Amino acid sequence: MSPDSNQDDGGVQDGEPQVESGESGVAPLLSVQGLSTGYGDSQVLWDVSLEVMPGERVALVGANGAGKTTLLAAICRLLPAWSGTITFAGKEITHSRAERVVKLGIAHVPQGRRLFAGLTVEENLRLGAYTRRAGSAQAVAKDMERVYAFLPKLSERRDQLAGSLSGGEQQMCAIGRGLMTRPDVLLIDELSLGLAPNIVDDILEALDTIHREEHLSILLVEQDVQIALERAERGYVIENGRIVLSGTGADLLESERVRAAYLGEL
Ligand SMILES: Nc1ncnc2c1ncn2[C@@H]1O[C@H](COP(=O)(O)OP(=O)(O)O)[C@@H](O)[C@H]1O
Ligand SMILES: [Mg+2]
Repeated sequence: MSPDSNQDDGGVQDGEPQVESGESGVAPLLSVQGLSTGYGDSQVLWDVSLEVMPGERVALVGANGAGKTTLLAAICRLLPAWSGTITFAGKEITHSRAERVVKLGIAHVPQGRRLFAGLTVEENLRLGAYTRRAGSAQAVAKDMERVYAFLPKLSERRDQLAGSLSGGEQQMCAIGRGLMTRPDVLLIDELSLGLAPNIVDDILEALDTIHREEHLSILLVEQDVQIALERAERGYVIENGRIVLSGTGADLLESERVRAAYLGEL
């Protein structure tokens, strides 16, 4: 048991299931329950609950400033939770360290991509592997080829500096870096922001393939509600730091509230 796990609940053993399985009998992979957090004394999230099942694609949509990035930061343990619990693969991670969360299988593709501009694509991917759960140099090389197979454009650019890539290629590189940690869930913050629609389609298609072939769960955060809900099994709508609506992607796209508030329809 690593020293950072379950600091505050004293006595829960690592590996012991913490998540009740639901009606389907399948426990969520990621579960956020009643989460509140913020910055300094300014509260941003209020009693947020959200779940991602194994292999599920979930969309989190909402306007600029609603709290989407803050929620991902809390899940990745870059921001402390004020109250509530976060569990992943049956382990409580509410107070775990960020590195541990990565090792458990959560990869974060941050808003703005945050690549090392002065390093090549391949060097950026290697940095993803640095935080991986285990593996020899050989395994890292194999995973790198796997990432290039999913994202062939990245392969063509492998020796190019990340700073010289187009926005779409940078997004692919950030996703590739996340995949190098061998995650069970990929949290992607604003995939489509600033990218041309055909580039977004290419990236979404690559993600579909990865999702299908590797049973990867994806939590996609988007201001572009249509893009996110179209491909998601389920979605959540966040407004002013509160989840105000959830349901299947298709139902949310049909809902009057979403159509009026986010799709410009009356
Ligand atoms: N580092 C920060 N310090 C203080 N307030 C912040 C910080 N980051 C975000 N906020 C505030 O938190 C709220 C939610 O922001 P954010 O999570 O980035 O929303 P979204 O990702 O949905 O656009 C906003 O009001 C924003 O101004
Ligand atoms: Mg954001």
